[in-house]
Amino acid sequence: MQIGVLGSGAMGTGIAQVAAQAGHDVILFDKNPTAIERAKQKLLKVLNRLVEKGKMTDAEAKGIFGRIYFVDNIYAYKDCGLIIEAIIENLDIKKDVFDQLADIVSKDCILASNTSSLSITSIAGSVIHPERFIGVHFFNPAPVMKLVEIIPAMQTASSITQQARDLIDSWGKLTVLVKDTPGFIVNRLARPFYGEAIRIYEEGFADFATIDWAMTELGGFRMGPFTLMDFIGNDVNYAVTESVWKSFYHDPRYKPSFTQKRLSEAGWLGRKTGKGYFDYSENAGEPAPKKDKELGEQIVWRIVVMLINEAADALYLKIASKEDLDLAMEKGVNYPKGLLRWADEKGIVQCVETLDRLFDEYHEERYRCSPMLRNMAREGKKFYLNAAEKV
Ligand SMILES: NC(=O)c1ccc[n+]([C@@H]2O[C@H](COP(=O)([O-])OP(=O)(O)OC[C@H]3O[C@@H](n4cnc5c(N)ncnc54)[C@H](O)[C@@H]3O)[C@@H](O)[C@H]2O)c1
Repeated sequence: MQIGVLGSGAMGTGIAQVAAQAGHDVILFDKNPTAIERAKQKLLKVLNRLVEKGKMTDAEAKGIFGRIYFVDNIYAYKDCGLIIEAIIENLDIKKDVFDQLADIVSKDCILASNTSSLSITSIAGSVIHPERFIGVHFFNPAPVMKLVEIIPAMQTASSITQQARDLIDSWGKLTVLVKDTPGFIVNRLARPFYGEAIRIYEEGFADFATIDWAMTELGGFRMGPFTLMDFIGNDVNYAVTESVWKSFYHDPRYKPSFTQKRLSEAGWLGRKTGKGYFDYSENAGEPAPKKDKELGEQIVWRIVVMLINEAADALYLKIASKEDLDLAMEKGVNYPKGLLRWADEKGIVQCVETLDRLFDEYHEERYRCSPMLRNMAREGKKFYLNAAEKV
């Protein structure tokens, strides 16, 4: 099957590589000729590096590059069986592009969007034959990150969901099925990782370095929240939080923070500007964390229990299966373990007690315990029947 990729920025280039690596001919188009040239150079560099590292032969790399057709004309998509759109995150522009595509491709061509924050159902609403429209959310960098969220719109035919999932699975990706809701799985469940860490800092319990130390050394996360926000960019991370919060009709659980907003406004975006929560200039020393184990464990548990609450609520609201919720966080953002598995290990009763204690303290909706956890605690249930049950 010929695959079309629309937009040759960071995501489009990566997705084109993934599809070509899986043996497909790929048509890659961008309205900006400079972006196409940049994608070409980037792909050549990436493939050369893979050859140097012994990950593929020179012939394989040439084969992959040869299967990607860099085009300057949208009509080149006419024989594609699947087109994945990865252009600018703007609903009207995306709708317009799918409108143009519908005139070019056959009615059997699956149309997909890689959007991170827009409603799949809303884009589908402007597509002719919306039953063939679906969300496929890759993570950055697409060739490296194994997870892909598959998001059917209200209108999507179940056969199309299955076809898209099977195809992307066959590319060596790990797919999870998720309802069309803001943030899908990963960007929704991960919000407290940032938000609760900032809140702990704002309340004066610990500084950035101490919170990061606790989360990595004691919590087992690969990066602390502040190092990660500096890595992602405070502008980008703030925008995702704000978009999820607005999409949930200002649910206080997702409320963005002034601390991050001010950093963004100051241009302290993180690594890319040399300063964020931490200073990345040449002679800046590393701030020393306060390695107090008791405080560290309190920090980790307060953030983790908020993450668990999000995961439990997502399961309660049937956003995804428990297996997919856990897989998404382990594979999508490399959490040390799935959040529901973590809840079982800590004990559901302890999760409820901690959340109730926080709620009693603050009387804020943000700390309300998910009915899922409360019901389970009452009935003595666990998410998994036994520790060995595989996700
Ligand atoms: N960057 C990420 O981490 C990430 C992760 C997952 C999903 N996404 C989503 O993927 C999409 C693309 O993100 P990105 O980071 O690759 O953006 P990007 O800015 O790197 O690339 C977007 C490309 O689309 C092109 N473009 C814009 N309008 C176009 C049009 N009408 N027709 C053809 N090409 C057009 C631009 O010239 C640009 O090259 C967005 O919807 C984003 O939300 C991004």
